[in-house]
Amino acid sequence: MISVKIPATTANVGPGFDCLGIALDIYNNFFVEEIEDGLVIEGCDDEYCNEDNLIYKSMKKCFQRIGYKHKGIRIKIENDIPISRGLGSSASCVLGGVIAANKIAGNKLSKDEILKISSEIEGHPDNVAPALLGGMVTSIKEGDDIYCSKINIPKGLKFCALIPDFKLSTEKSRAVLPSEIPYKDGVFNVGRVSLMVSALINGQFDLIKLACKDSLHQKYRGSLIKDYDNIIKKCKDLDSIGVFLSGAGPTIMVMLKENDINFYNKIQKYTSTLDNKWSIKELNIDNKGIDV
Ligand code: HSE
Repeated sequence: MISVKIPATTANVGPGFDCLGIALDIYNNFFVEEIEDGLVIEGCDDEYCNEDNLIYKSMKKCFQRIGYKHKGIRIKIENDIPISRGLGSSASCVLGGVIAANKIAGNKLSKDEILKISSEIEGHPDNVAPALLGGMVTSIKEGDDIYCSKINIPKGLKFCALIPDFKLSTEKSRAVLPSEIPYKDGVFNVGRVSLMVSALINGQFDLIKLACKDSLHQKYRGSLIKDYDNIIKKCKDLDSIGVFLSGAGPTIMVMLKENDINFYNKIQKYTSTLDNKWSIKELNIDNKGIDV
């Protein structure tokens, strides 16, 4: 039996659209084995217990790439990462499937190849790279290959995820983005994403607020999330270090000083006045990444 533990991820981190991501300490656990025949999936809703299951589809893709003829497969799922909330749940399924299949097929693929296949399935590398490596990771696609660099964030930071009671698919959230952007929006983001990376490396947390700004996706996606602008404003008013849309949303991610003891109760009180139910989770960076 292969056991795979995969962290949640928050992608984009504001301006780093499709290239920045941070691993966080909520986990999905998958237990996978090759059996004589058939497909058995346990531990998730009936709608996911079939051949369309993303873990299974990712396994099949990996088997094909290696040229391994598999027999039956049993998958047991223990899910803690909320589904379709912008916290890397689908990346965890993809990566978990690829890693498990590679192990069953005799560990034929390198870490780089695992990242490449997983990013191909996911469509972008910014969730799978930190889920695989842990910490904060910058990742880019060049030709068919993925290149990434792990950033060591100094201590002193924690995160708070504001997770609403509704889902938002990445597909729907990408559909509202423009196909072209003005030159000035590109320049705006280049500056902010560079500032985000250097401020985090140097522990200059007072610069993060500015570095969270972006012109490529957050303003378009905010319209899909009820009370988005008001929540962002409230988080800024409550002395957060920074606030941004987590991945494609709808979760809103807040960066806080490690010793902040007021934010949690205050934001809970505020979100309880809103129409949707928002659950509030304090999170820390996972520096280890996937554990097999
Ligand atoms: N970078 C991706 C996006 C993350 O923003 O659409 C979502 O999976």
